[in-house]
Amino acid sequence: MLSAAMTDLLNDQLNREFFSSNLYLQMSSWAEAEGLDGCATFLRNHADEEMGHMKRFYNYINEKGAMAIIGAIDAPQTKFKDIKDVFEQIYEHEQHITQKIHEIVKAAFSEGDMTTFNFLQYFVAEQHEEETLVRSILDRVKIIGLDGKGVFFIDQELARYGSGEVTVAESMAPGAE
Ligand SMILES: [Fe+2]
Ligand SMILES: [Fe+2]
Repeated sequence: MLSAAMTDLLNDQLNREFFSSNLYLQMSSWAEAEGLDGCATFLRNHADEEMGHMKRFYNYINEKGAMAIIGAIDAPQTKFKDIKDVFEQIYEHEQHITQKIHEIVKAAFSEGDMTTFNFLQYFVAEQHEEETLVRSILDRVKIIGLDGKGVFFIDQELARYGSGEVTVAESMAPGAE
């Protein structure tokens, strides 16, 4: 049984995951229009992951006998300066999502709703992983730069991430590459 307050919090997060998915899908479309195929693939896969998160909230809320509610989802922005701008915005967005997840975790704990507290642990771990991934991409963008062939190399890197050819952990391990 979910409290009314917890149901609202979980539904808000469901809609945030939906927005995240739309944002990354829109960014993917921008990347494709810019000819950045690796970046486009990476972002499309990321959008799918966020839709998976949305469904986790959807299923959980309904399993608990409450009702998942799909609200109005804001339209994501369509213009981005460059690849660095895209990933800076993703990083900022993910940090915001992490903060929201943590707020719900705190609420679940103080309500004594341990089932929801446990359900949310997946997202605590997931947010840590996503922030680490995006930060590692931003580090690469800073090292490689966007001049000359820089954009091409970054796009190649993202193609490798996007295809699942390398995981973040592998790519960051000492002596990787
Ligand atoms: Fe998510
Ligand atoms: Fe995310």
